[in-house]
Amino acid sequence: MSTTWTEAVVVARHDPTPRIAVFDLARTDGEELWEFEPGAHIDVVTGADDMIRQYSLCGPANTRKQYRLAVLNEENSRGGSRAMHALAEGDTVRISAPRNRFGLSPARRHILVAGGIGITPLLAMVLELEATGGDYHLHYCSRSRSEAAFVGELENNSRVTFHFDDEAAEQRLDLARDAGPPDPDTALYVCGPGGFMDYVLDRAAELGWHPSALHKERFAAAATTLEAGTPGSGSFTVRLASTGAEYEVAEGESILDVLLDSGVDAPYSCQQGICGECVVRVLAGEPDHRDDVLTDAERADGMFTLCSSRALSSHLEVEL
Ligand code: FES
Repeated sequence: MSTTWTEAVVVARHDPTPRIAVFDLARTDGEELWEFEPGAHIDVVTGADDMIRQYSLCGPANTRKQYRLAVLNEENSRGGSRAMHALAEGDTVRISAPRNRFGLSPARRHILVAGGIGITPLLAMVLELEATGGDYHLHYCSRSRSEAAFVGELENNSRVTFHFDDEAAEQRLDLARDAGPPDPDTALYVCGPGGFMDYVLDRAAELGWHPSALHKERFAAAATTLEAGTPGSGSFTVRLASTGAEYEVAEGESILDVLLDSGVDAPYSCQQGICGECVVRVLAGEPDHRDDVLTDAERADGMFTLCSSRALSSHLEVEL
């Protein structure tokens, strides 16, 4: 894996809610961390099994001394959030350099819609837009006030509106009212649980928002099923342009797994089609895009995720 890593120490931890822990991380060698843009995330390696998980950076982007993460202890955790919640001040973890598939667009106005722990990348955007005088409004949805992190930091900001499921119906998110009509100078960003994101994105599409104005970051892949016999489900051959080597990708396998099993040093992180680390360019063949990270324009430009996407043609050549 070509990701750049460093060792970091937990310099502070606090738990703003019973299920959310906020960590400040600094390099163990005292050097500065990498620069990042709001919306960026890092990989964190934790637990006895060296699990790699992605967490958005939610602190201000203008400091390289520390990174701030907020981690929800997921009910259906695969182990990553539990391992994170076991960390205490002084513990060390390995972290990657930040990557960003969810940066602020050049739009004049920014509507940010957070669901639960999806506040994390949007909080970094709020801090940046505050610092630079950007025009924005944050809509922060949560099951309840007591389950929402960063309420204290945000509640006196007139450009923030909270929407709590357990409070009056009229304060719940109404995208038509809260985002206003689609506007070519406005970008709409959404981050949160999958069902929440699907709801917001579907509603935005119904309201006439152009896909290029919608920016999203998922923490888990949208559920997809690939029935045997449907287009893209079958086997195909992938060819690497650099070596000319060819690999058979059987039904049910991913290109990334086949390459890694064959000793190819392919880039990857999430293995779910949501982080963008495994993106390469397709040089020949017909791709079957199954990621949740590339835009239509990037796909049209030949970008392709090795971890989740497949081929509709019998051969696919990629730039690797
Ligand atoms: S490894 Fe994250 S998108 Fe493929």
